[in-house]
Formats: sequence, C-alpha cells, structure tokens
Amino acid sequence: MSAVTVENASKFFFQGKKKITALNGVSLEIKGGEIFGLLGPNGAGKTTLISSICGLLELDDGSIRVFGKNVSTQRKEVIREMNLVTGFAGLLYGMSVEDLLRYYAYLYTIPGKEKAISDALRLSGMEEKRKQQAFTLSSGYKQRFYIAKALLSSPRLLLMDEPTVGLDVEMAIKIRKLVKNLKKQGITILLTTHYMLEAEKLCDRIALINDGKIVATGTVDELKRLAGKPGASLEDTFLKLTRKPLEDEDDE
Ligand SMILES: Nc1ncnc2c1ncn2[C@@H]1O[C@H](COP(=O)(O)OP(=O)(O)OP(=O)(O)O)[C@@H](O)[C@H]1O
Ligand SMILES: [Mg+2]
Repeated sequence: MSAVTVENASKFFFQGKKKITALNGVSLEIKGGEIFGLLGPNGAGKTTLISSICGLLELDDGSIRVFGKNVSTQRKEVIREMNLVTGFAGLLYGMSVEDLLRYYAYLYTIPGKEKAISDALRLSGMEEKRKQQAFTLSSGYKQRFYIAKALLSSPRLLLMDEPTVGLDVEMAIKIRKLVKNLKKQGITILLTTHYMLEAEKLCDRIALINDGKIVATGTVDELKRLAGKPGASLEDTFLKLTRKPLEDEDDE
C-alpha cells in the first residue's frame, strides 16, 4: 500500500506583493515501509511539502493522501497515522527528558502513556538520558529527544526535516542507524537532507526537487545514471538537475 500519494500539489506564498511558487505541481508516491528522501537546494520547497503532508499548510491546488486518507478532508484520522520531527520545538526549561515526554503525552492525550514513553525512550536510544534536564542535552541528544517525542503517538509515517543538520559525524551516524532501526519497526520515513552521502546510505528512493518541481525520482543508482557520465555521484546528478546556469562558473 502506498503511504503517501501527492498529486499535482501547488502552494503559493506572498512575500509582500511578490508571489512565490513554493510547490509547482508536485506528484510523488511513497511506498509503505520505505525510507524516501527529498533532496533539493535551499528554497526548493522541501519543508513546504512536508508541512503540507502533515496538514500544517493547506495546498492551493492538488491533493495529498496518507495511507489512503485525504489530508485536508480527513485530517483527524490522518494526524493519528503520522508525526513530524523538526529540530525547532522549544524544550521546556527545568524538566527531565522523561517528564517532558510525559507532559507531551498528556498534551496529545496519548493512550497508554507510560508504555508509550518507555517505548519512545528505547526506540530513540534515550533511556540513559531519561533523568537529564532536557534543555541541557547536546544537539545530537536533543535531536533524539525530538524523535522520541514524535514516536509517542506510534506513527506509521514519520516526517523528518533535516534530521542530522548540525550534528557531528559520529552523532549523525548514530541518528542514521536509528532511522534505519525505525524502518525495521515498519515505520515509513520521509526525510529531507542536504547531505548526499546520507541520502545514499539511508534512502530506498529519492526525489529531487527544484524550484517547487520534482525533477527526478528513483533509487540512488537510477539517479546516478541521470548524470550521464560513467562513475557519476549523486552530487553530479543533483548539480546537473538543480544548478542554475549563472552559478556554473565556480566549478570545484
Ligand atoms: N511562510 C512563508 N511565507 C512566504 N514564503 C515562504 C514561506 N514558507 C516558505 N516560503 C518560500 O517558499 C519557498 C520554499 O521554501 P521551503 O522552506 O519549502 O524550502 P526548502 O526546500 O525547505 O529550503 P531549505 O533547504 O532552505 O530548508 C522559498 O522561496 C521560501 O522563501
Ligand atoms: Mg527546509
């Protein structure tokens, strides 16, 4: 079964009088159980798409289905199926990891709160940090905390916007391992990243998005072939399909 079906999604913003087309007729399908990567330059529309999938933004055109349910007309049912990990939620001062998770479990009226909390702590590798004050966690563990928070609702679909941004090499490796482990638990994952290696290591399939349009979708090998030269890297394809002509001068 397909986990996410995006059909002809368009989203516009106004910055003053200027109309910005953040999504321009995006269609894609994410299969149940896969790790799907969304790659694209800054401003390509990745966060807009993720926000539209989880219902934080309303599309101007097109539709999105999550496990067969329409995100805009069956919002309540859809929200139960998924959760979002972004590194921007505030961490309440003065509460331990465990208490903060409990606070969120009450806030979101999670059934079976204590089990949900211990499962989330285990799956996110946070058990040893459960008593630590959340605001004192290092960046890597803060990221794990956000993952734990998202896992409280036992989502079938996890949306992760740049899950390893700003993390050191070792912590990023650990988070990737954790993401793979979530996949093993049967969770479908949509993630965005700017790290080609990460996409290559993690993703079953990838969509390249540029200026609000999907310019290619496929496995890493399929995308590499699109670069049109032997031994091409994912970065070669990325640059070929997303680079603006004027920026071609300063080649590495
Ligand atoms: N709330 C908003 N109001 C106005 N413009 C917006 C808003 N949100 C996004 N945009 C614009 O929509 C476009 C797509 O932005 P989006 O955040 O989806 O890109 P992104 O691919 O996530 O980029 P990044 O890699 O930098 O996170 C950009 O031009 C951005 O400036
Ligand atoms: Mg973004």
